Amino acid sequence: MTNKMLIGNWKMEVGSRESVALARGALLALRGKKQLPEVVVCPSFPALADVRKVIARSHVSLGAQNVHHEEKGAFTGEVSARMLEEQGASFCLVGHSERRAMGETDAQVAKKVSELYAHGITPVLCVGETLAQRKSGISSQAVTNQLQSSLTGVSIRGRDRLCIAYEPIWAIGTGTPASPQDAVAMHDTIRQRIGILFPGLASSRLQVLYGGSIDATNAYRFLREPEVGGLLIGGASVHLSQFTKIIAEAADVLEGLSHA
Ligand code: PGA
Repeated sequence: MTNKMLIGNWKMEVGSRESVALARGALLALRGKKQLPEVVVCPSFPALADVRKVIARSHVSLGAQNVHHEEKGAFTGEVSARMLEEQGASFCLVGHSERRAMGETDAQVAKKVSELYAHGITPVLCVGETLAQRKSGISSQAVTNQLQSSLTGVSIRGRDRLCIAYEPIWAIGTGTPASPQDAVAMHDTIRQRIGILFPGLASSRLQVLYGGSIDATNAYRFLREPEVGGLLIGGASVHLSQFTKIIAEAADVLEGLSHA
């Protein structure tokens, strides 16, 4: 069955009160829809507990925006995968370009992925080329290399899922998304590479998403592509009307596909 996943990355934009309101909006947007996209909301750490209560027993899942790569220890200010598990997170972003820009390495990202699996949390691994790489025509190579090194040493077991978000760095927060065609081409590249890295991973356990300047005006053009498994939405996901419109559109796309 086709699935479309929508992940709202609320970054450091909203606190608990607004996060709760956005989560309620997401629930309302799904109400009455016949086909439900998988919605994941990623509030800031302090808002996780409040949002968890709102979305309990619903079709909306809880995600975190980051995790520390070590299991535990003297790491002031950091949050471990076990702590996220306790908070009810079932997804966690890793390797977001905003974190890589702060010095996060591929090796750390790979350790984060393993830590998350150890605690039953699905990683959403973000990859994407820089503008310079794009201009040099080496986008696929850059993304493939990133996948390889961000997943070194990771093992995936039977029921684990893997989400990969293709987020070209030049498209994040710029108002200029990739074209749906370019996104589709990169999704194919990603699927092929993951197939080589994890030959045992069933395709239904791999979700490839696009992210970067998605809003309510362009989301549909990506969602209607069968290769695009969903969207990772930053800026637009903290605007209630945009976020709910995108959710409703994903539900409609799924409904259309179910009749096709
Ligand atoms: P954007 O961010 O939608 O604001 O471009 C996407 C992201 O950073 O995940």
